[in-house]
Amino acid sequence: MSVHKEIRKVTTHVLSAMKLRGEKISMLTSYDYSMAKLVDEAGVDVILVGDSASNVMAGNETTLPITLDQMIYHGTSVVKAVNRALVIVDMPFGTYQGNSKEALSSAIRIMKETAADAVKLEGGSEVLESVDRILSAGIPVMGHLGLMPQSIHKYGTYTVRAKQEEEADKLIEDAKLLENAGCFGIVLEKIPAELGKRVAESVKIPIIGIGAGSGVDGQVLVIHDMLGITQEFSPRFLRRYHNLAVEIKGAVGTYIEDVKSLNFPNEREQY
Ligand code: KIV
Repeated sequence: MSVHKEIRKVTTHVLSAMKLRGEKISMLTSYDYSMAKLVDEAGVDVILVGDSASNVMAGNETTLPITLDQMIYHGTSVVKAVNRALVIVDMPFGTYQGNSKEALSSAIRIMKETAADAVKLEGGSEVLESVDRILSAGIPVMGHLGLMPQSIHKYGTYTVRAKQEEEADKLIEDAKLLENAGCFGIVLEKIPAELGKRVAESVKIPIIGIGAGSGVDGQVLVIHDMLGITQEFSPRFLRRYHNLAVEIKGAVGTYIEDVKSLNFPNEREQY
């Protein structure tokens, strides 16, 4: 009897089926080979190569500066490590807004060069033409509504979005537009929990929340935040599952002491 365990790759269809049977979807970001390998082996359903790489990998204040080439670099590294999870790559700022032909060629570059499974982009009605064109090439698209970090300069703050009825109504309308266009899912960021639940109940496609409450179909967090590598970012929605910053600094501190005191390398650690 074969002991080989078959890995069933997560597809967009698997995610729809999960929503149908009420099974919550787990999603985390990754940006490099080594972390993506661990996250995939741990069994997460979806890995997002988020443009949050601009913050946590490149040290920028916003997600705006990251380029298409840089997202492709991160995407390529992640895809090489992943066997099971669905891999989605964020389309960076300036590569899909306002020009649907450019949007399509950006998405094609991502799919060709990274071998990812899908792309994600921010916005509703204002990016619908781009969404339509990308979908027409057979590329799966995930939407992103609510707090949209690429529009930070329009709003000026990262506070909770859609607290007022007008903005909440527009958000639900946008979610339906994206669903009707053919998006396979939507990320909802930092909105009231009650609205998150309403959106998830208004559409058939999976809604993945980050600060959108427990009534949505799945959750996503930035891996550096949930592992406690980043220390300065502490929104209410963030649960830290570890305090890796302390562990990393502790290990590095011990290494420095060992080097200085000639405790490293010892006899067994040299040739
Ligand atoms: O870029 C990112 O990491 C994201 C998540 C916050 C959903 O878009």
